[in-house]
Amino acid sequence: MKFGFFDDARKEYVITTPCTPLPWINYLGSENFFTLLSNTAGGYSFYRDARLRRLTRYRYNNAPLDSEGFHLYIRDNDTVWNPGWQPVQTSLDRYECRHGLGYSVIEGQKNNLTVRQELTVPLGDNCLLMRVTLRNEGGTAKTVSLFPYLEFCLWDAQDDASNFQRNYSTGEVEIEPCAVYHKTEYRERRDHYAVFWSNRRPDAYDTSREAFLGVYGSPAKPAAVFGEGCTGSVAHGWQPIAAMEFVLSLQPGETECLIFGLGYIENPQTEKWESPSVINKRPAHAMIARYQDRFAFDTVLASLHDYWRGLLGGYQAATGNEKLDRMVNIWNQYQCMVTFNMSRSASYFESGMGRGMGFRDSCQDLLGFVHMIPQRARERILDIAATQFPDGSAYHQYQPLTKKGNLDIGSGFNDDPLWLIAGTDAYLRETGDWSILDEACAFDNDLSLSQPLLEHLRRSFRYTATHLGPHKLPLIGRADWNDCLNLNCFSEHPGESFQISGPSEGPVAESVFIAGMFVKYGRAWADICRHIGLADESADAEQAVAEMEAAVLDAGWDGSWFRRAYDAFGNVVGGAACEEGKIFIEPQGMCVMAGIGKVSGQAAQALKSVEEWLDSKYGIVLLQPAYTRYHLELGEISSYPPGYKENAGIFCHNNPWIVCAEAELGHGDRAFQVYRRTCPAFIEDISEIHRTEPYVYSQMIAGKDAPTFGEGKNSWLTGTAAWTFLSISQAILGVKPTLDGLQIDPCIPSSVREFSVSRRYRGALYKITVHNPAGVCSGVRSVLMDGAEIVGNVLPVQPDGKTVNVEVFLGD
Ligand code: BGC
Ligand code: NOJ
Repeated sequence: MKFGFFDDARKEYVITTPCTPLPWINYLGSENFFTLLSNTAGGYSFYRDARLRRLTRYRYNNAPLDSEGFHLYIRDNDTVWNPGWQPVQTSLDRYECRHGLGYSVIEGQKNNLTVRQELTVPLGDNCLLMRVTLRNEGGTAKTVSLFPYLEFCLWDAQDDASNFQRNYSTGEVEIEPCAVYHKTEYRERRDHYAVFWSNRRPDAYDTSREAFLGVYGSPAKPAAVFGEGCTGSVAHGWQPIAAMEFVLSLQPGETECLIFGLGYIENPQTEKWESPSVINKRPAHAMIARYQDRFAFDTVLASLHDYWRGLLGGYQAATGNEKLDRMVNIWNQYQCMVTFNMSRSASYFESGMGRGMGFRDSCQDLLGFVHMIPQRARERILDIAATQFPDGSAYHQYQPLTKKGNLDIGSGFNDDPLWLIAGTDAYLRETGDWSILDEACAFDNDLSLSQPLLEHLRRSFRYTATHLGPHKLPLIGRADWNDCLNLNCFSEHPGESFQISGPSEGPVAESVFIAGMFVKYGRAWADICRHIGLADESADAEQAVAEMEAAVLDAGWDGSWFRRAYDAFGNVVGGAACEEGKIFIEPQGMCVMAGIGKVSGQAAQALKSVEEWLDSKYGIVLLQPAYTRYHLELGEISSYPPGYKENAGIFCHNNPWIVCAEAELGHGDRAFQVYRRTCPAFIEDISEIHRTEPYVYSQMIAGKDAPTFGEGKNSWLTGTAAWTFLSISQAILGVKPTLDGLQIDPCIPSSVREFSVSRRYRGALYKITVHNPAGVCSGVRSVLMDGAEIVGNVLPVQPDGKTVNVEVFLGD
């Protein structure tokens, strides 16, 4: 069943009922100010850091779901309703929500009144704008009341949700005729406040939640809306809010338009006050002035459209398959940008308080956005590298506001260092900007320890190369990519974090997955060294990689697939002899992507085993058989009920590894089969089962062992976005940036006879058409560039601004 449809021409997903299986959200904001917005106008805003600078409140586990946000109430005689249906839930005569790139439009109609609520965050400014248009569709005049309402968060979302003994006494506001200023803690150390404004003077307002909702009222039944209207309350402590009331009269066919904004303002310490206790509102007034008339909103939207056209223009495919095209050209790239902005911090499953930016997560996200915003990828790499420890290990996370590593989680995730090589390598392939390797970059955020980025990569490589266990495989530490495989943790006490309990390192537990990574990204490191003239270092790296490959084929090979790990007692994890968890997806994907066993046959055998053991109709599960009990020696992975999350869920993140691995072996039909099973646009029809948004990937789909097989969770913020984009754009469609130019090497279903890709690369535009007259899956026969055949399949780098036409012929 579907709950909407794709409008590809407008690059929108159109939701046609407010009762989606879960709130279906969008992200507004591209730089510093962000808003999560659901299809019923739920959500919240923050400035840069969802924990430390949260502007409005959101209660994740509330019932009903998603009842805080940017709601508008309409009172039309005796009927109170919301254009987005929530929170009053009055049934609507018509409803539609369009989620577009960086904006959303929610439109509801009731009793001949249409209310359109458009929301966006302008480029270059720190505010959420909301344009509200009311239209009387009936034949008689109407007088209605409009109430916008939002609830402020007292900045630090964690403190806001827990430290009530203090919070109930700190809330402060200031009020102007058209604006409510939230200035809690501004009197002391904060230099920022929030402002909610309207471009029209309201008839009344409230700033105390108690006054607006009633002590025992709720957003579904605000006392002011259902009773006598707003009271002019001034919040002193408790819960500051911004609510306004407008009485509007509309003749038949008449339209009224109002602009609202929620802004974040920072003042220099010396200019905090206008007069004692009165905040300096000059910058807020300037912000308000920028958007006074309703056409300013159109200008904002127009720049946003240009911005996205520019970003997405880097990769556009025409494959003849509309589902594929809409994912590649619009939604997958959009999701990659959202992961760039958010890492894993703020979604409807990530509270914004728990995690900042993940080291490995952000490095992987880079793989999906580097072609859109190389300059910002560059900054990101340098930020991440600056959190690395001098020995090459890394803080697992850092806060975006401070850019400092998070002490509470620390280090010990032994795959982290290698992801820095992966991200930097992707950047170099994309841009050819070797100067990044010379950039001085702190260790542990200590500038006195600065070294060129190249040295950071070297230490990443060395850290892995020198932390090997008894089988010459890399030590796993706290965990590798799979945060839940905690082989040194041995946690027996409920509530202990699996990620930080126990030692951060053990001398025995080893990871075959990291070994695969070492082969793949160690080789990338060797290539980088060779390119910059470090021939000896490159040869040494190749040697270490070869030794690792041998170790994998020896201790890492189980007979029919790659093992997963050795635990702290030296026992195999992920082998046929194991009682549960005999086979895992990760090492099959990573080792085959690294080319391990490609010639000697283990690679093909491993992928066959994946198909045999791990396939399901909704995607490939992470492991089989699922763990049915808690294994002290394995940690969090066995804490999940069978079929969920890392315990045999369909982890969408590593499905594309299998796509890439299959493509590595030239299996185009199978690669595409795996690709489409988890691809949102291809499973839109089962939205009642999948439940999460049909336009973005979820981290996890419940696996075949789960009672809710097929149900998605943790949508939006997942490395799935980057890896699926890589798998389709590079592995299947075959347009691969290399250090020397753009390589064309597709691996497609044999039934595909032709497709084209337009790719911006290092300043030039490549218009590539691939012909497959013989119906093969892979193998490039010839490549013509502007009519002339080239040697090999790597398109040489072109001058800036040039457009070249490329014809590629597959076949023998
Ligand atoms: C989740 C993992 C996640 C980890 C992060 C675990 O509970 O299952 O997917 O990476 O938490 O801390
Ligand atoms: C989610 C985390 O963000 C990511 O870093 C990790 O690799 C996966 N879960 C798998 O555990």
